[in-house]
Amino acid sequence: MSAKRRSGLAGALHGAEVIVCCGSGGVGKTTTAAVLGIEAARDGRRVVVVTIDPARRLADALGLTDGLAAEPHHIELADAPGELWAMMLDTTATFDGLVRRYAADESQARRILDNRFYRNIAGALSGTQEYMAAETLHALHGDERFDQVIVDTPPSRNALDFLEAPGVLTRFLDHKLFKVMMLPARRGMGVFNLAAQPVLRATGKVVGSDVLADAVAFFQAFAGMESGFRERADDVLALLRSDVTRFVLVASPRHDTIDEAMWFAGQLARQDLSVSAAIVNRVHPTFGTWSAQQARKRAGEASGPAAALWRNAAELADIVAAERGVAEPLVKAIEGAALAEVPLLRGDVHDLDGLAQIGAALFDRQ
Ligand SMILES: Nc1ncnc2c1ncn2[C@@H]1O[C@H](COP(=O)(O)OP(=O)(O)OP(=O)(O)O)[C@@H](O)[C@H]1O
Ligand SMILES: [Mg+2]
Repeated sequence: MSAKRRSGLAGALHGAEVIVCCGSGGVGKTTTAAVLGIEAARDGRRVVVVTIDPARRLADALGLTDGLAAEPHHIELADAPGELWAMMLDTTATFDGLVRRYAADESQARRILDNRFYRNIAGALSGTQEYMAAETLHALHGDERFDQVIVDTPPSRNALDFLEAPGVLTRFLDHKLFKVMMLPARRGMGVFNLAAQPVLRATGKVVGSDVLADAVAFFQAFAGMESGFRERADDVLALLRSDVTRFVLVASPRHDTIDEAMWFAGQLARQDLSVSAAIVNRVHPTFGTWSAQQARKRAGEASGPAAALWRNAAELADIVAAERGVAEPLVKAIEGAALAEVPLLRGDVHDLDGLAQIGAALFDRQ
């Protein structure tokens, strides 16, 4: 399963306007997103990488220090004819932006933005982060400054709610509770009459009447904005499903992350989408092309330090063979997709040099 046997990562990503990196926790999604960004900039494209919670030192390397992160930030890259930009996903600011966009006027926007339920709870509702990630992606895709948007996803199975996130919002808008809460806006009923409605009375008992009153006020303020949100959600989904969008799975050569990557592939397939590429990250490096058996034979023939070196080489070849065995089910499951291996580097990848080293492995330039 070597990168040489089936690679073509560059081909698989050719013409991509949106790249979504997914995989389980800690496998290297954020690193991969940054590497793909650098590669695209080297290829002359103007690319923006949207990261989610990058490790501190990687954030520093990408210029994502506090205060600069919520907006795309240009990163100087030597020898790159294109441009690399990076930003961090800011769920709250994105939600605020949507509210401003679809509010009928400034006063409706203010009523929502100042509402306590909105401030405290709306950003934390399940699916919101995924929805706002999709929204950010859509906004950046329409931004003339960029040719390509690369998104990192959160380390959870929910990452692909992303694909259903606009649907999550639409379901939320269709929810019985939401409909009941919207009633007063339509019928001129006050918050207190409304709180007497059976569904809300029951809800108030659970969450407390203050919270309920804030929530009711929020949904009332929201009146009239659903259609804007719905249309936007449809546009976002259409972009994710279009052929300018590519999905890249990242895994490490361990059963759990490989299983998780296969689960992601299955989720995509369920939505009629396919994986463009899989990256098996942190595979032990090999030195040369000999098999474990050949290295062992050489060890037997050599003596002293040379013999020890050959024994080492044999051991590493064994480890890599085992790792490739672990990854094999994923390789089979995504037949037709590009496949690349990235060696385990000595230390963490936290600067542009480390990212460049990974880029060289991914794109077969060693
Ligand atoms: N090939 C590699 N060799 C050595 N270290 C690596 C390699 N790839 C990634 N790392 C390191 O592994 C850690 C996790 O990588 P990264 O943050 O990209 O993963 P992630 O999938 O985004 O994690 P999370 O799910 O927590 O967001 C980082 O410290 C990174 O520097
Ligand atoms: Mg990450």
